[in-house]
Amino acid sequence: MDLNKVARAMVSNRRGILAADESIATMSARLEKVGVEPTAESRRVYRELIVTTPELADSISGVILADETFHQRVTDGRTFPDYLSDIGILTGIKVDTGAKPLAGAPGETVTEGLDGLRERVADYVRLGAAFAKWRAVITIGDNTPTDRAIRANLHALARYAGLCQEGGLVPIVEPEVLMDGTHSLARCREVSTAVLRALFEELDLMQVQLDGIVLKPNMVVAGSGSSDQPTVADVAQATVETLRETVPASVPGIAFLSGGQRPELATQHLGAMQKLDPLPWELTYSFGRALVGPALETWRGEDKNRGRAQEVLSGLALANAAAR
Ligand code: G3H
Repeated sequence: MDLNKVARAMVSNRRGILAADESIATMSARLEKVGVEPTAESRRVYRELIVTTPELADSISGVILADETFHQRVTDGRTFPDYLSDIGILTGIKVDTGAKPLAGAPGETVTEGLDGLRERVADYVRLGAAFAKWRAVITIGDNTPTDRAIRANLHALARYAGLCQEGGLVPIVEPEVLMDGTHSLARCREVSTAVLRALFEELDLMQVQLDGIVLKPNMVVAGSGSSDQPTVADVAQATVETLRETVPASVPGIAFLSGGQRPELATQHLGAMQKLDPLPWELTYSFGRALVGPALETWRGEDKNRGRAQEVLSGLALANAAAR
């Protein structure tokens, strides 16, 4: 497996990654919110709506699946990974098992999932996965993040990345600094810088091949509760400067999470960043909510809304591709 080739395929040709890997609990809550009873079958039907969106491969290079979907089948009997492969889209798999309370750090979490990961990676590769995802969560508050939370999370992230590369999967390395809070853009920049510095130290320690990863960071924004919201140009500049100071040029691509931003705003931020030459890496999207949120709202579990929901998803995906 040529990790660099796969990583480049994930971020090039103006395409981006669609994150459809919500855990069973998160997906169920989102379905309930739009009036759909959450079952394995309703989650499958919804994920099938997403992946069968016409011409999805024009704007999407890879789809991240959760374990449940990875083992389910589309209506014609193909597994999701086989179906995606047939339409020219790489399959990704979320391999972490979630953020759990971190001992000694009230209010902070550490993402778990390293136990048995070597064996799980081997199974996912055998069944068609090309890349993986692990999300570390960092919170900004009065007394957070602590060094404890940063180091515990990034150490685990680097060990995950090493295991994926050993087994032949490109790791998406996702250290998410949450938007929750009233903090300023400057504070988000300070924390994001510290987190990314610590991340590349850990990746180096674990001998992770940097040209065989995709970095999935937050954009540098103000807290969602802050009354002082920056302009699109400010976010683009703060984000690109933070990345230039911390991310080696050997990383082939950076694919942002949307983190709860409105879809149009996330797209505008992405577009504004492309103009800040020179960029040593590809900058693209790996959005969840900012790609599929409006489609889910449109669908609401009704078959008659299916086509319209797919049009909404397709429109957002193409808008992001155009922003690149
Ligand atoms: O881990 C987070 C998801 O993959 C991205 O989701 O764009 O809704 O933040 P989001």
